[in-house]
Amino acid sequence: MEKLIDPFARPISYLRVSVTDRCDFRCVYCMSEHMSFLPKKELLTLEELGRLCSTFIRLGVEKLRITGGEPLVRRDILKFFQSMSQHLDSGALKELTLTTNGSQLEKFAKPLYEAGVRRVNISADTLDEEKFAQITRWGRLPQVLRGIDAAQAAGLRVKLNAVALKGFNEDELFSITEWCAERGMDLTWIEVMPMGDIGNEDRLGQYWKLDDLRSRLAEQYTLTDLAESTGGPARYVRLEETGQKVGFITPLTHNFCESCNRVRVTCTGELFMCLGQEDRADLRSALRNHPDSDAPLEAAIRSAIARKPEGHDFDYSRQTVDGRVSRHMSHTGG
Ligand code: GTP
Ligand code: 5AD
Ligand code: SF4
Repeated sequence: MEKLIDPFARPISYLRVSVTDRCDFRCVYCMSEHMSFLPKKELLTLEELGRLCSTFIRLGVEKLRITGGEPLVRRDILKFFQSMSQHLDSGALKELTLTTNGSQLEKFAKPLYEAGVRRVNISADTLDEEKFAQITRWGRLPQVLRGIDAAQAAGLRVKLNAVALKGFNEDELFSITEWCAERGMDLTWIEVMPMGDIGNEDRLGQYWKLDDLRSRLAEQYTLTDLAESTGGPARYVRLEETGQKVGFITPLTHNFCESCNRVRVTCTGELFMCLGQEDRADLRSALRNHPDSDAPLEAAIRSAIARKPEGHDFDYSRQTVDGRVSRHMSHTGG
């Protein structure tokens, strides 16, 4: 079987699948407070999701990340994880993982581990209860902390994802770092991207360059650049004093598109070849119109990959927000 390779000779080995557009939080940079969600018939069924992922795995995907919205609010999602275990057992899939807000992990951590998940990325931008409620609107920090405890107790390796926000979590740089070190957790900072319907001034005002964050870290710690990669976009350093890894995802200051190995599928079966572009391909009709054959699906995937763009056009450098995309981050799952 010929593997997926894009026009820039990048092998596509990482698939991110959003299984729902819904979420129990309303993070300000991700959703508006009053979102309208898709009717159920628009969503891929769990069986369709299974066929889709299995086809991508046959075509060379080795890393599968389940996202949302919040993936763990989708009904029966555990069954889906359990059905994907077969590909871990066969060795075709190297990693089955998810990005979650942590709210449901108390309940799901153990069964996820049992399904073969070994690592989870949990999003939390602050460890202050009030600020947490403010930025997530609906989220409550203690619930997420219980989720993190449950994940670690179940044997899952946890990475905390924090969106770096000027004037919001700048003052927590060291406290968050130390908290993760104490708990043996890795930490990744993400530059805020121009997605969704937030105004220009807001997004520019929030933008905290990770170059600056990194220099501040270097005032307190010895940073060693690491060559290793998880197959994701983060570049890592080790803090020699604590031994922990800290990652930087810098779509704005250092474009990492040249090594892009990933594509994303939304919960309705749209394939986005780039997080930062509008072009997409419909995979749902190939799935629905051909319940007994995956050949049309495979053809649709191949023709979409053949037009994967070189990269995104996000740019704040002219003091305006350029290259923005209008869809919400919850649509493609980050
Ligand atoms: P690891 O396997 O731990 O490396 O995870 P990951 O960084 O691949 O996944 P995660 O869901 O933690 O991603 C963190 C964030 O990085 C995403 O939510 C996006 O905001 C951003 N990101 C991931 N891939 C891309 C990409 O291709 N382009 C851009 N601009 N941002 C991306
Ligand atoms: N810019 C950067 N990161 C974002 N996320 C959601 N919206 C944005 C944005 N506009 C992050 C979440 C989570 C991941 C899935 O994407 O905080 O860590
Ligand atoms: Fe939900 Fe994640 Fe979006 Fe927050 S960033 S609203 S937790 S999908």
